Amino acid sequence: AGVVKVGLLGLGTVGGGVIKTIRLQQEKLFARLGKRIEIVKALVRDSEKERAVQVDPALLTTNFEDVLKSDVDIVVEVMGGVEPTYDYVRALIEKGCHVVTANKELLAKRGPELVELANRHQVHLAYEASVAGGIPILSVLRQFLRTNDIHGVRGILNGTTNFILTKMEAEQLPYQEVLKQAQELGYAEADPRSDVEGFDAMYKLYILAQLVYGESLPLANVVRKGIADLSPGHIRIASELGYRIKLIAQAQKTEQGIRLSVQPTMLPLAHPLAQIQDSFNAVQLSGNIVGDLLFTGRGAGELPTASAVVEDLAYLLTQPFTPHPAWEEKTAEAQPAQAEDER
Ligand code: NDP
Ligand code: HSE
Repeated sequence: AGVVKVGLLGLGTVGGGVIKTIRLQQEKLFARLGKRIEIVKALVRDSEKERAVQVDPALLTTNFEDVLKSDVDIVVEVMGGVEPTYDYVRALIEKGCHVVTANKELLAKRGPELVELANRHQVHLAYEASVAGGIPILSVLRQFLRTNDIHGVRGILNGTTNFILTKMEAEQLPYQEVLKQAQELGYAEADPRSDVEGFDAMYKLYILAQLVYGESLPLANVVRKGIADLSPGHIRIASELGYRIKLIAQAQKTEQGIRLSVQPTMLPLAHPLAQIQDSFNAVQLSGNIVGDLLFTGRGAGELPTASAVVEDLAYLLTQPFTPHPAWEEKTAEAQPAQAEDER
């Protein structure tokens, strides 16, 4: 039987989950693919560090060239960030390697170029894990909601902030205290300001808009506000009034173009999105034929995210290459521009 050679860029929370999942589900994967999945190299920053999963130390490298030389068929990019990640992914695509990534920041900042590059080299670019963790929302949008007109999409796209808001309400704690717990559970980004200031949800919304509308906005045109200014007092007052505050990401198509926003929003307690607690995410959308849909599941963490990565990996191995629809960016005229710091 054949072997699929996989290279990992990153072996942290998600990379560890990917190795666990491949080990746990190896019989099922073999039955489906008729091939064994073998991790041949894993790029890390510190090869001496103690890790949650045991791997052969010979697999670890701190030198990207070792991954490039190891003739991998597929690379799983779970290291995060844009630099040097973009250069690494680019070099691997140019070598004809398929890419599975969980990196929404990379996609939101360099997605149009990566899609074009992957198409030019006829390799798959798969990124289900980049939006809403374990919820297979991108596959659904790509395959089963192509005929409906989608009116709008809104949801809770960041597990860390939803966990924080849930705990702030339950335990009356300031967000900095609860953030520590979210970091220990592996939910938060390496720089957690990305979560609490709404950048992470904005990147995911950008990707959702590309799939739903075939275009998105330059990130500077997305309205973005995080939860850093919210105190337990705000949450208590909202609750006394019968509301719950959630960090809501919303995409709408208007006559002036797409509008994208991420902001804390007061929702009546009975609202379906007000019921989404802990690290769960949710995506609510409405199609002219199907009506209202709500998808929910764990939006962050080792195994839910690894589920999306490994499902993507197995799926692409069963599919012939087909070009990925191009990603575009268009500025909506009525969109308030935002000239805040870029991250
Ligand atoms: P971690 O910080 O836990 O892991 C990152 C890994 O990448 C580590 O193994 C680190 O090495 C390695 N790494 C980082 N930078 C470099 C570099 N410059 N050179 C070599 N190796 C490097 O991150 P996560 O696993 O949490 O997240 C990874 C990606 O997945 C991110 O893009 C994130 O946004 C995305 N994601 C995360 C989810 C989650 O719940 N955590 C959910 C969905 C997506 P070392 O171990 O030596 O430090
Ligand atoms: N930091 C992200 C979150 C990880 O909390 O949602 C999942 O993308």
